[in-house]
Amino acid sequence: MKAGPKLKQANIIAIETSCDETSVAIFNDKLEVLSSVVASQFKWHERFGGVVPEVAARAHMELLNKSILQALQDAELPISQISAVAVHNGPGLAGALLVGLSAAKMIALGLNVPLIAVNHVHSHIYACRMSAGKDIFPCVGLVVSGGHSILFDCKTALEMNRLGGTIDDAAGEAFDKVAALLGLGFPGGPAVEREAIGGDPHAYAYPKSFFYEDRLDFSFSGLKTAVLYTIAPPGQARPAVVEANKKRADIAASFQKAVVDVLVSKALQALQKTGLKRLAVGGGVVANQTLRQKLLEETKLNGIELYLPEKNLCTDNAAMAALSVEAWKQNIFTSLDVDIRPTVF
Ligand code: KG4
Ligand code: ZN
Repeated sequence: MKAGPKLKQANIIAIETSCDETSVAIFNDKLEVLSSVVASQFKWHERFGGVVPEVAARAHMELLNKSILQALQDAELPISQISAVAVHNGPGLAGALLVGLSAAKMIALGLNVPLIAVNHVHSHIYACRMSAGKDIFPCVGLVVSGGHSILFDCKTALEMNRLGGTIDDAAGEAFDKVAALLGLGFPGGPAVEREAIGGDPHAYAYPKSFFYEDRLDFSFSGLKTAVLYTIAPPGQARPAVVEANKKRADIAASFQKAVVDVLVSKALQALQKTGLKRLAVGGGVVANQTLRQKLLEETKLNGIELYLPEKNLCTDNAAMAALSVEAWKQNIFTSLDVDIRPTVF
């Protein structure tokens, strides 16, 4: 296997198939993204109202080869110029991860270049490093996505230690489920955000779990139930259609406020506990404007440097696997025997 410090520029092809986006990116060791293809599986999952793991794996099978060819074409790079293959081998859906990891292994084997497996959740934080254009470590990292709500003590890009996380639903999952309850469709995050624009965030005082507790964990399932009870009090049947009116907008705005308040306060608690002065927030939910605004206000107030990814690096993508460049620079490669790690953060 070719390896060793490079004199010429290295180009890495990266594959992301952890959930419902099939994504391939090519970047170089200066963190310049040469191409980024994100093929949405929206039309496969829409009719089920959520991501179906088996369907996701099959859709990756259908979309991945095309995405790899597209990424090479967009980067105007012959495959012979690829120096390494990066892949997210977890966490995520097992079947979906297997498709991406198998493809990555085969490319690495065929080209005789190193494989670099990186953690999808850590890559979400690294997206902040990419958007910052400068080093952001050490920092507190917060990942808020459809599958995860986790706080990390990030010592370096390659050493992220979990401080706490959700004990039930992830923040994005709560957005998706509340969107379904409100009849706003899938994916729910952007739909709830749009609905909340016309609503009063103080209309309903929804529960904020662990808000006053000295622990760095989240819980969003009680909040989801509270929203359900606003729509249909216990014992009453849930209406088949939730009407688009002021009440629906108020529920969306109040729900969004509860999530945002909890996320921001726990991030500040983590900063206080670790003594760190930088915060990096990644994952699909950080596309939410209300969350971004509140993070900006509170970090400014508390003298914290805030790092957020550009919008196209928030939701799942392979470009953020440029985290692999950090491993590449230290000659840290992955054996071709590596397995998927569906539950490892
Ligand atoms: O990071 P991501 O693409 O996938 C996972 O790794 O899970 O995050 C997807 C999640 C979904 O739950 C989606 O509803 C949420 O991010 N999301 C949002 C917004 N855009 C996406 N949540 C709130 N507001 C948004 N604007
Ligand atoms: Zn993700």
